[in-house]
Amino acid sequence: MKFFLDTANLDELKKGAAWGIVDGVTTNPSLIAKEGRPIAHQIRLICDIVDGDISAEVVATEAKEMIREGRELARLHKNVVVKCPLTREGIKATAALSKEGLRVNVTLCFSAGQALLAAKAGAYIISPFVGRLDDIGWTGMDLIRSLTTIYKNYGFKTQILAASLRSPTHVIDAAMAGAHIGTMPFKVLDMLFNHPLTDKGLEQFLKDYNKVFQETPVAG
Ligand code: G3P
Repeated sequence: MKFFLDTANLDELKKGAAWGIVDGVTTNPSLIAKEGRPIAHQIRLICDIVDGDISAEVVATEAKEMIREGRELARLHKNVVVKCPLTREGIKATAALSKEGLRVNVTLCFSAGQALLAAKAGAYIISPFVGRLDDIGWTGMDLIRSLTTIYKNYGFKTQILAASLRSPTHVIDAAMAGAHIGTMPFKVLDMLFNHPLTDKGLEQFLKDYNKVFQETPVAG
């Protein structure tokens, strides 16, 4: 499973990248706006930090303009994946951009039917939003399970990116369901490290060691 960070914040990206386990980044217009820099500038800075797929979303709502924006975003860096919303116009733009050889992440997916449309349009990635489905009383993870089955049935190459993950349990369940990628806020990635038995075990190991050697080991 690839781990993507769902943030446009450079400090968070630097911290995550330093752990050596971040495979890519997803952004959306809300996340870009939070950082206060125009999208092209912010995406270039992100590409300097993380070497992997970096999703950058169009803000146009009509296909013609989405295609123009998508081409511009793709020109920013070889790692940029153009993100289009799952609307009629977005799917039209996805089909056109994919035919040109650009990689498209279709976002705001909330049903298996929508995900089929994206796969048929040649999307490189589909982004089903788990947490936002949970928010309205559905079981978001069921969508990930349906998609892995449906895409496998027909051999679609589109990668399933579990998005809107809000907790370590979401990440684990998405992995169990077979999502290719999980994108998560920095806070969730950080929480994945935590286990009280790890802390307790390490404390005991060091206590036992130091009782005998009373100091940190010196080579030789
Ligand atoms: O990747 C999509 C993500 O940014 C949405 O997350 O928590 O705002 O639903 P959330």
